[in-house]
Amino acid sequence: MSDTELPDDVGAETIPPKPAALIETFRAIGYNLASAIADIIDNSISADAGNIMVNFQWEEEKSFVTIIDDGRGMTEEEMIEALRPGTSNPLSDRRPSDLGRFGLGLKTASFSQCRRLTVISKAAGGSEPAYRGWDLDYVVSKDVWQIIRYLSKPELAAELGARASGTIIFWEKLDRIIFGQNKQLISKTKFWEAVREVEKHLSMVFHRFIEKKKITLSVNGNPVQPWNPFLIEEPATQSFPEEIYDNGQISIKGFVLPHVSKISPEKFKTAGGTAGWTAQQGFYIYRNDRILVAGDWLDLFRKDDFTRLARIMVEIDSSLDFSWQIDIRKSKAQPPKMFMEKLKRYGAEIRKNAVEVYRYRGKQKQRKMGRSSFEFAWITAEEQGREVFKINRKHPSYRIVRDQLGKNARDFERLISLLEMTLPVQSIVFNENLYADQPAPPPVDDQAVAEMMKAVYNKLISEGFSPQKAKEELYFIDPFSNYPHLTEQLT
Ligand SMILES: Nc1ncnc2c1ncn2[C@@H]1O[C@H](COP(=O)(O)OP(=O)(O)OP(=O)(O)O)[C@@H](O)[C@H]1O
Ligand SMILES: [Mg+2]
Repeated sequence: MSDTELPDDVGAETIPPKPAALIETFRAIGYNLASAIADIIDNSISADAGNIMVNFQWEEEKSFVTIIDDGRGMTEEEMIEALRPGTSNPLSDRRPSDLGRFGLGLKTASFSQCRRLTVISKAAGGSEPAYRGWDLDYVVSKDVWQIIRYLSKPELAAELGARASGTIIFWEKLDRIIFGQNKQLISKTKFWEAVREVEKHLSMVFHRFIEKKKITLSVNGNPVQPWNPFLIEEPATQSFPEEIYDNGQISIKGFVLPHVSKISPEKFKTAGGTAGWTAQQGFYIYRNDRILVAGDWLDLFRKDDFTRLARIMVEIDSSLDFSWQIDIRKSKAQPPKMFMEKLKRYGAEIRKNAVEVYRYRGKQKQRKMGRSSFEFAWITAEEQGREVFKINRKHPSYRIVRDQLGKNARDFERLISLLEMTLPVQSIVFNENLYADQPAPPPVDDQAVAEMMKAVYNKLISEGFSPQKAKEELYFIDPFSNYPHLTEQLT
């Protein structure tokens, strides 16, 4: 007998986990409100729901959340089983459209936000909706693994009774949502801010389902609009060849999004996403059409300012969950080592192309866009048959200094000409190639840009622009076009 095999008569004792202690631990898996709601919606999608309604109700301590779907629902027995922590083995095969894996999400996501979870469900063909729930205070006070049969709002069961089938997830005692770090009740405003964050997160995570019209998703009655990271419909978006691996179980496709001068200011702003352009670059990992990771270089590269236009779609099949280390929250994935090499090579290529957009924009002709033309800091001109770099004399930063100097502007002009004449083009090209694989220098400090921007803003106002118009102009002036968050802060 080998060391790894146990004798038949091995001594054994049962030590079930202590309910009060373990159920509190379940709360600490690291969800936030948005990722918790997304995990509940995963279940609705797996149950073939077409309509999913998330509702937040502010009633101070009595605030509650419902997630209502019209999926296939559960019978009473199935529902009881669904409430069991670890109801299915993570190693079992799943239907390709199933977004679940661990048999835990319903419980862990709910407990991360509330102390009472009630599930109300009606299976097709069933008569009355059934309900059961976990109340953490009940579990802790009795120290038992017991679900309860109690529904504080019978009207929810009535609502479901009117449907052919479906499920309502009902969260009460929202301690993690409605109390701040000081344990005080948060303000109503804060509550609705949190709801807006949820909405933004859902519009990203489930954008494909919404785009393909597989689901309609609403938050408090407002339809959630899809947020697609790749701006595929924009003509100036560059897309790169797709690479496919492991018999089609993995695919990678890179995009370089348009420079700000090539899309509308509104598009530019929304495309920046929840975290802003620099933060939203990187790999976007999809599993069964659902986003797991949204903009992350997986420690392969830094989020540099001038690679901010690079976004790469990575799609994986759920049969790879273990090798890609998908977590319970569906918010993380760590590709296997072997695959990291491929991602690094592909990522470096897309990043290089993203840098090009900025690097050579000085060469681009000024583009008419609506009533505004884009003001680059550097432009090119032809001199004796060669292309040379010049400071754009129409750039407001240049004009500010020249106008202030009046008669002495000639000295300033000479200095600018000196800089243009001695621009070390050769060394710049050489260095750029030499350091191509290395981390870029730290991004320009926002403060410095903000000061420059303020001066230009004042200049525009002095030239007769209204504050609103002056701000709009800044979206078309180099380098302020890359700092819309600073434009918004101007007063
Ligand atoms: N809205 C729903 N409609 C129908 N069945 C549901 C619904 N929500 C949960 N279930 C059932 O409950 C089970 C348990 O859900 P739970 O989220 O805990 O685990 P999972 O989805 O299987 O895996 P994961 O832990 O990865 O989310 C599901 O497998 C499903 O059978
Ligand atoms: Mg689940």
